[in-house]
Amino acid sequence: MEKTIDETKQGTALETREQQANTRKLYIESYGCQMNFSDSEIVASILSGEGFNTTPNMEEADLILVNTCSIRDKAEQTVRKRLEQFNTLKRDKPSIKVGVLGCMAERLKSQLLEEEQIVDMVVGPDAYKDLPNLVREVDGGAQAVNVILSKEETYGDVAPVRLGSNGVTAFVSITRGCDNMCTFCVVPFTRGRERSRDPQSIVKEVGELWEQGFREVTLLGQNVDSYLWYGGGLKKDYEKASDIQKASAVNFAGLLDQVAAAYPGMRIRFSTSNPQDMTLDVIEAMARHRNICKYIHLPVQSGSDRILQAMNRLHTRQEYMELIDNIRRLIPECGISQDMIAGFPTETEEDHRETLSLMEYVKYDFGFMFAYSERPGTLAARKMADDVPEEDKKRRLREIIELQQQHSLWRNQQHLGKVEEVLIEGPSKRSDAHWMGRNTQNTVVVFPKEQYQKGEFVNVRIEDCTSATLLGTAVGYAQQ
Ligand code: SAH
Ligand code: F3S
Repeated sequence: MEKTIDETKQGTALETREQQANTRKLYIESYGCQMNFSDSEIVASILSGEGFNTTPNMEEADLILVNTCSIRDKAEQTVRKRLEQFNTLKRDKPSIKVGVLGCMAERLKSQLLEEEQIVDMVVGPDAYKDLPNLVREVDGGAQAVNVILSKEETYGDVAPVRLGSNGVTAFVSITRGCDNMCTFCVVPFTRGRERSRDPQSIVKEVGELWEQGFREVTLLGQNVDSYLWYGGGLKKDYEKASDIQKASAVNFAGLLDQVAAAYPGMRIRFSTSNPQDMTLDVIEAMARHRNICKYIHLPVQSGSDRILQAMNRLHTRQEYMELIDNIRRLIPECGISQDMIAGFPTETEEDHRETLSLMEYVKYDFGFMFAYSERPGTLAARKMADDVPEEDKKRRLREIIELQQQHSLWRNQQHLGKVEEVLIEGPSKRSDAHWMGRNTQNTVVVFPKEQYQKGEFVNVRIEDCTSATLLGTAVGYAQQ
């Protein structure tokens, strides 16, 4: 993960006494979803109690950890190449220990220890509290592995060490695992069953971030709308909960209300929403609180009912369109983005055209688009042949991406001439004379710095745009 100068400064300012006394160096790299980046902050926190401080420089590391992703084959190949590079480093400095964390650890288990000679430690997403023991085993010259998935673990009691942070925006995880069993997806196997984190610990973490100067949090989960706290335990065991537990249960809309009301100056985002679980009360909570950003990441994967069913997405195209209509009715300015998969098994040209026509209907602000990648162990891999020819997959993906680019440009053009509230996150990548921030819809806005500072809310007049960025000029501070 790249480190910025600001973050190094902040790291120093926030260093605890414990961290000052630490002598060993941890280099941690994260791949894949936001949850992995958030998990690495939990890992850094757990290991800071074991004598490790993080370093941006892998050459000086005593321990290298790679937080891995299994979502597509390409993601795994990237990590395998990276492990080879660590191997070279280890040849020069044999005392370095290397550990694989996250979804690949869970999926491949001890196979990684056997196959990749350089790996000393394999730790699944629910086993990070065991890291102190595992590191000790590795220090003693053994290999170590823990890939046990948990019913309860949410790391609610661990205060994350913010890594690669801009000091303004942060992730706060609220659920772990996923019960949805989309047939293409490896996540339910690698991250286990769904469980929610205690709302009190979530509000507390948001409060700590506020005190440290953070001004935006993204509540994270594989399926945030399914959040349900009833005193601990798996979501699927809710029916077995006592009447008292049920009476005081908190759902996602309730959690949004609690967090938004506790810190009205803090911007709140969340990701990811699943259409089948996103209820009207969530949209109403968004509309009710000024500080909840008007943006929903709402993956649909396909516009064809037949494919949605084969994917085990538990909604139809029509129901998805009705959800979009409800969002637009209650929050007209809401930004909406998608995830789309091209070339799921049996997908025909007609199915593909249904995807394009759904995109025309929604005109998403942006999207994340992928060619189907068969994942071992998933229902699709076991039951369906990966039968869409590679060139068709690629062409369909290209068509989806091109259409999305047109829509992104069109959406961005709708902002021209408007004055929008932007939270400044840091200097623009392209120019040090400009700030970069986001409007409520999560679109990047770039404008001249003038007297404004990082972490401030500014009103920006939007004057120009590309399909990815809005360009403008600040016209004053935004009222908070
Ligand atoms: N609910 C999750 C989804 C995780 S996976 C979340 O929080 O984002 C992210 C996206 O990767 C999915 O929405 C899907 O579009 C894509 N994806 C998952 N499995 C895939 C596969 N086997 N092949 C291609 N894309 C996949
Ligand atoms: Fe994967 Fe579907 Fe869950 S995409 S993470 S199984 S909602």
